[in-house]
Amino acid sequence: MNTVLPNDVHPAWLPPEAFRALGSRRSLVCGEGTLVDTVRHELALACARYGGSTDQPHPRPDAPPSDDRPAAGTSYELVFALVPAGLLPIAAAAVDVVYRRRHGAGALGEEGFLLARHAEVTVVLAEAPAGLLHGLFHLVRLGESAFGLTRPMELHRPATRLRMLDHWDNVDVHPVMGQVERGYAGGSIFWQDGARREDLTRVGAYGRLLAAGGVNAVSVNNVNVHATEARLLTDRLGDVAAFADVLRPYGIRVHLSVSFAAPVTLGGLPTADPLDDGVRGWWADTTKQVYESIPDFGGYVVKADSEGQPGPFGYGRSHADGANVLADALAPFGGVVHWRAFVYNHRQDWRDRSTDRARAAHDHFAPLDGQFRDNVILQVKHGPMDFQPREPISPVIAAMPRTRLAVEFQVTQEYTGQQRHVCYLAPWWSEVLGFAPWGDDGPTVAAVAAGGPADGGGLVAVSNVGDDPFWTGHPLAQANLYAFGRLAWDPRLDPAAVLDEWIELTFAGASPGGPGPVRRALHAIMDDSWRTYERYTAPLGVGFMVRPGHHYGPDVDGYEYTPWGTYHFADRDGVGVDRTRASGTGFTGQFPPPWRDVYESIESCPDELLLFFHHVPYGHVLHNGSTVIQHIYDTHFDGVEQVAAMRQRWERLAGVVDPGVHARVRERLDEQLRCAEEWRDQINAYFFRKSGVPDARGRRIH
Ligand code: GCU
Repeated sequence: MNTVLPNDVHPAWLPPEAFRALGSRRSLVCGEGTLVDTVRHELALACARYGGSTDQPHPRPDAPPSDDRPAAGTSYELVFALVPAGLLPIAAAAVDVVYRRRHGAGALGEEGFLLARHAEVTVVLAEAPAGLLHGLFHLVRLGESAFGLTRPMELHRPATRLRMLDHWDNVDVHPVMGQVERGYAGGSIFWQDGARREDLTRVGAYGRLLAAGGVNAVSVNNVNVHATEARLLTDRLGDVAAFADVLRPYGIRVHLSVSFAAPVTLGGLPTADPLDDGVRGWWADTTKQVYESIPDFGGYVVKADSEGQPGPFGYGRSHADGANVLADALAPFGGVVHWRAFVYNHRQDWRDRSTDRARAAHDHFAPLDGQFRDNVILQVKHGPMDFQPREPISPVIAAMPRTRLAVEFQVTQEYTGQQRHVCYLAPWWSEVLGFAPWGDDGPTVAAVAAGGPADGGGLVAVSNVGDDPFWTGHPLAQANLYAFGRLAWDPRLDPAAVLDEWIELTFAGASPGGPGPVRRALHAIMDDSWRTYERYTAPLGVGFMVRPGHHYGPDVDGYEYTPWGTYHFADRDGVGVDRTRASGTGFTGQFPPPWRDVYESIESCPDELLLFFHHVPYGHVLHNGSTVIQHIYDTHFDGVEQVAAMRQRWERLAGVVDPGVHARVRERLDEQLRCAEEWRDQINAYFFRKSGVPDARGRRIH
């Protein structure tokens, strides 16, 4: 296993210094298996650097208990062990007894771990090897404080079982989209020049970073499956197997996007009709071969009948029919199919006001609740549209109690500044995950994704990495990748605390002035950066005022008259989309109470979503006391000022952080400021010209 990166690749949140506390201790690792070996390997690397030692018990499995104990007299400071095991060193055995008395066997599950401090030994116990690996990275986060004198026993286990990143990577460079669709960090880490990269060190290092955040699954190729990428399922399967080999030591399973038309395009069958026996047989045989190469393969991801991709509608079948044929092929091997709910009409006529893209997923999928197999996971974008900086939650999340649902986020910043802008997204995701679709007494979005007694579908996000030396183009965008993993593991975490962890790890030991100034500056720059982005872009939840195609920079009417179906309906009197039941598209009716009524009424609709749900006059007074038009002006002026302040703040870190990081972030902040000014001027000028209402504060509007 080689995850040692070349010097020109940034170590992200796992610089060697982050392992100082572990690497200077005497540790013992008990247990067997690939992931336990990874723990040993990590400790050995750290000890080689920081002078500690790592040991393992006597390897003879048939040895009598006393022989299996580590050498008498060795006093360990850190012990990793699997339970139940009677052969643990004293401290670990004592913790084991307490744990089992308190929690009973099984409480830690497949990935959980227990952290305790007993008789001056820090003990990590797990019931399965993955738990030890997660425990290791938890200790990395804690650093010295893991060895403090007192530490209450802590039990950690992930909120949801599947925590996955989707890559929109192509093998070949696509003429319009490039190699990574919506990728802002260079080429793919998996493929180069139309072939699998020979050196997969970077993929292994990526797996290590993801495991340290909490992610445990990766889908390697684009959901828009082009001809070459389709073959990853058959004659190019070796690529996928090679990725699985380097990701496996970090507990990450590989998934693959497949084309619904594969039985025709790859199998040469006359149809891909999911109810056709030949088609069913083809999926079953093909899937069997996949598992022969990759026994722990995770499953398929499918974008069907969406934005030009083939799907069951082509055969007059439902999406349940479509998903189930793949699910049946995967079931014997324990695989799942992530079936995306991103289905809408992208050939609309803007004159037809009865079609509403926001309604589409619910219209298509809610009636199918209960018809999907247990190993189908319906993957739903968190909002009804498409990862705008502000949307309500997708009503599908609350409409399918008998279906496993995964909620999908976008770490890659397609609509949030394309990794040229600082936009720390965890506060937004945290709001979404904590949202209670049935009102305060009901479950949250995070709880739906986690599932009830049975497994839920978990959380999925579109990754933001590429072969850029900083991984993510903008070095500060690494924080989004880290935060997704952490929130997927525990959605209740405070985004500011997650940012703190990321800062501590990433800048560990790398700042001459100590971590204090870096921490303060980065919080000032990043904590509120998503809201800042929202302020200088499309106002009050209306969304989509971006340039068509690449989606960067302002173009208020860019999509207004296109077939994609996203409109703001601004005229001289007002702006916004009427999605009420009373007079609009009826979208509000897709929500359960109380939200169907909260959103229906202009009085109770939250300001930040007002224009998503209502068409209002410019003089409409918001809850914050401002009129809509004045709010547009104020937020756009403020947003730009905030970006200017961010930039100044970063300037002061020159000489405090690594010069390469400093230069890259500075260059991006210059662009962010330029772009924010462009947004401000276009949005303000557009609405001033439409409404004729001047800025109450007399600022210059072009
Ligand atoms: C957006 C994005 C596409 C992507 C699609 C999806 O529409 O612009 O590039 O393919 O989402 O999620 O499938």
